[in-house]
Amino acid sequence: MTGVKPTGDPHLGNYFGAIKPAIDLINANKGKGYIFIADVHALNAQKDPKFIRDKTYEVAAAWLACGLDAGKTVFYRQSDVPEVFELSSLLTNFTPKGSMNRAHAYKAIIEKDGSDDNVNMGLYTYPILMAADILIMNTDVVPVGLDQKQHIEIARDIAKAFNSVYKKDVLKLPAEHIQYTDSIVGFDGRKMSKSYGNTMGIFASSEDMEKKVIKIPTDSKTPAEPKDKESVIYGLMATFGVDKDYLRKFLAGGIGYGEAKKILAGQIDGYFAPMREKYKALITDRKGLDLTLATGAVLARKTAAATLKAVRETLGLTYLHGSS
Ligand code: TRP
Repeated sequence: MTGVKPTGDPHLGNYFGAIKPAIDLINANKGKGYIFIADVHALNAQKDPKFIRDKTYEVAAAWLACGLDAGKTVFYRQSDVPEVFELSSLLTNFTPKGSMNRAHAYKAIIEKDGSDDNVNMGLYTYPILMAADILIMNTDVVPVGLDQKQHIEIARDIAKAFNSVYKKDVLKLPAEHIQYTDSIVGFDGRKMSKSYGNTMGIFASSEDMEKKVIKIPTDSKTPAEPKDKESVIYGLMATFGVDKDYLRKFLAGGIGYGEAKKILAGQIDGYFAPMREKYKALITDRKGLDLTLATGAVLARKTAAATLKAVRETLGLTYLHGSS
C-alpha cells in the first residue's frame, strides 16, 4: 500500500522512482494492493479547493494511465474513508509528542523559521495520520521514497506502543520498501526534481519532449569520437531501451550527439505515447474517475471498518455503528 500526494503533472523521476515500482510491486504480488490519493494530507499546505480537486483527478488519471490495474488494486481517495480519521484520533493517545518533534518535515521548518508559529497541527501530526493510513489497511509493505522512511518507522512505533499496552497484536507492523528516487537523473545531470526545473513531464507532447531532449547539455566531442558511458544522454538511452548495437556504436565513436538525441526523443515518445493517449481519455471523464475511486473506497472501507472495530473493542469503546 502506498499514498500519493495530489500533485499533478508527473515527470520521468516520479514515474521511474515511484509510480512504476509501486505498480510493478503490486502486479508481482498475489495479494491485493492499496493505493490512495492523500487529499487530506495535502490540506496542511494547500487551501485552494479547486487545486485539491483538480490535482486529485490528475493523479488518479495518471496512475491509471501508467498501468494501475483497478481490479488488482484498491484505489481510493483518503477523504472517502472516514475510518482513517477516527483511527488517527485514537492513535494520538499512543504517540509521544517527542516523536513528532523529531519528524524531519517539522524539524526542517523549525530550523528554517526558528519558531513553530507557522506550523499547523495538520503538519505537526502528519506522521500520525500517515500511520493511520497504513495501519488501518493491515499493511505488510509500503513502497516509498527514502524521504518517507522515518514516517514508516513512526507508524511501526505507534503500532508497537498500542500492541504492547494491550498485550495483543491488534495492529500489524508494516515494513518499508525503499525506492531510490535519487537514481533518476535530470537532464542537467542533477537529481530530477521540480525544484531544479530539470524535469520532463511524462504526458508532454512529442514536440515538447523532443525540444527538451535537444537541450540536454553535451560535451564538445565530434561524431567520430568515443562517448562517455556516464553521460546523461547515454543513461537515458539505456533506460529507454535504445538498441544495444546502437549504444555500443555510440560509445565506440561514430555517432554524433544530434543524431543520438533524435533517436532518444523518438524512444521516449514511443514509450509514453500509449500512456499519454490513455491519460487524455481518462482526465476528460471525471464521472468515470469518480466511479473508479468510489468503487475503491467501498473496498477500502470494508478493511478499514474491520481494523477500527478491533481497535475500538480493544480500547473498551462500544461499537454501535457499522458493526458487522
Ligand atoms: N507522505 C507521503 C509523501 O509525502 C504520502 C503518504 C501519505 C503516504 N500517507 C501515506 C505514503 C501512507 C505511504 C503510506 O509522499
